[in-house]
Amino acid sequence: MGLNLNDDPFIESLRLDDQSTGGTIDWDWWKHASFYHVYVKSFRDSNNDGIGDIRGVIEKIDHFPDSGIDAIFLSPIFQSPKIDQGYDVSDFMDVDPEFGTMDDLKELITQSHERNLKILLDFVPNHTSDQHQWFVDSVKGVDEYRDFYIWVDAKYDGSGNRQPPNNWLSVFHHSAWSWNETRQQYYLHQFHPTQPDLNFRNPKVVEAMNKVLLFWLDQGIDGFRVDAIPYIFESENLYDEPPSYWPGVPDYEFESLDHVHTKDQPETYELMHQWRQLLDSYSEKNRGHARILMSEAYTTIENTMRYFGTRDGTKLGAHFTFNFFLVGDATAGASAHDIVVSINKWLDNIPPIYTSSWVLSNHDNHRISTRCGPGNIDGFNMLKAILPGIDVTYYGEEIGQENGEILYEENQDLKVKNRGMFEKLCRDFERTPFQWDDSVNAGFNDGAKPWLPVSSKYLETNLKKQKGDGPSHYKVFRELTRIRSNVVLVRGSTVVKSVSEHTILVRRSHDGSSVVLVFNKGVSQVVLNVSEDVSKTNYVEIKSVQSPKEIGYAVDPHHLKMEPHEALIIFCSI
Ligand code: GLC
Repeated sequence: MGLNLNDDPFIESLRLDDQSTGGTIDWDWWKHASFYHVYVKSFRDSNNDGIGDIRGVIEKIDHFPDSGIDAIFLSPIFQSPKIDQGYDVSDFMDVDPEFGTMDDLKELITQSHERNLKILLDFVPNHTSDQHQWFVDSVKGVDEYRDFYIWVDAKYDGSGNRQPPNNWLSVFHHSAWSWNETRQQYYLHQFHPTQPDLNFRNPKVVEAMNKVLLFWLDQGIDGFRVDAIPYIFESENLYDEPPSYWPGVPDYEFESLDHVHTKDQPETYELMHQWRQLLDSYSEKNRGHARILMSEAYTTIENTMRYFGTRDGTKLGAHFTFNFFLVGDATAGASAHDIVVSINKWLDNIPPIYTSSWVLSNHDNHRISTRCGPGNIDGFNMLKAILPGIDVTYYGEEIGQENGEILYEENQDLKVKNRGMFEKLCRDFERTPFQWDDSVNAGFNDGAKPWLPVSSKYLETNLKKQKGDGPSHYKVFRELTRIRSNVVLVRGSTVVKSVSEHTILVRRSHDGSSVVLVFNKGVSQVVLNVSEDVSKTNYVEIKSVQSPKEIGYAVDPHHLKMEPHEALIIFCSI
């Protein structure tokens, strides 16, 4: 059918320089790219100390081009006491020895670029570690750093007891204020007490963090994930937040309040715009390609969209903001309709000038294979690969890796405060080592005890096995990255609907050709009439591992029998 239009002039233009900017900048490389999230600590441990490291990523670097990945982003590798796994940074401009050296990182950057792979870092602007020199000096009242953080005097109740300035709560539960004896003041921490919030109303903080961005850009980094962006500003009036009235939420939990003063404040979008300008002007000066910002924001659909910039594009923010809605909505109990509603909510709200992204899991959320069943991994990987825009893969998703098995006694996540919360909140489950092969510790290292246990499922689920004979999730994944450059997927219109209680249909169409996903995520066989979206002239291009269909053969659109968990990518004219 001639659908594989790799030499289509439009696709070419995505890769070529934008002449309108005077020559040599590829502003758009990210718009249809496949991104991969490397959780460094769990990826590959090169020195066998139990902890994944930068040299481990170098050792495995060919995995990315082999898998059709265009860009990787690394979890934080900066100096840190790692109370929150590196999201508590004590020096933004140096590499933590546990992960390697600056030279290792430089080599990783060089090796990535040699493979035409972009490499991005995690930028954690909301807070530092309490061991950062800025905080140490702020506690001491050193002039330059006195107002680097948010310090407020205590209130006293009727009996003269010291109280925090208001009722604000931390994301990790209990008061967002901690008392500091030396300063005799409270400081704000929207996360853990060891993660004091920076004061972005202080221009010196803005300048210091701009320097961090420029420092890494100068090392050759292609962009940043911007961590926890909704929390950057709080309203200055320090008013109490109103209750959320969520049923059954204890009053010390973050969700018990409606965060009208501590999240998504207007100044945040302005700051994002300034960072965008900084990156754009850097890219203009240094040519080559756009350096990009990806924002991490769990918030309402309206506020999520605001991180892109204004609806008309006169003010730009992040290049893209992660679409986390499927992370929340694709649950064990979700029907096809629930998933379709989630996808269409995004598509209906994103202004046409901006680029969508699709995320199924990450280091803060249980893995998709565990949430929706390991049998559905091909269908979900197909879903995110064929929806318009950016496809984001969390390490291990390409082989259908499930959550690991962690005992309460092994918990390393500070979010977990007690046994009752463990199963739901512990993020270690989704952070266990990558399953490379069937050797000791799944090839994560040479036998030292890994920081989190390797999943017992590694003999069954590992990359080496999936590269071997026979169909596998990894082979499906590679097929998916291959077809993503198809013009229909790059430019086509999008229809998303449910065609049975558990079957999702996505049709992308362009110029008389369509690419259609039919995905039965349920446990029963269904027989469907999909003739509205699949013409008679069709063939199966990709199928889930357990599908009995034949690649290259047509299906009967009036009578399409779909087995439990079966998913098909069908090419057709329509
Ligand atoms: C982000 C990170 C999460 C971390 C939090 C606080 O949400 O993804 O892992 O705990 O920020 O830094």
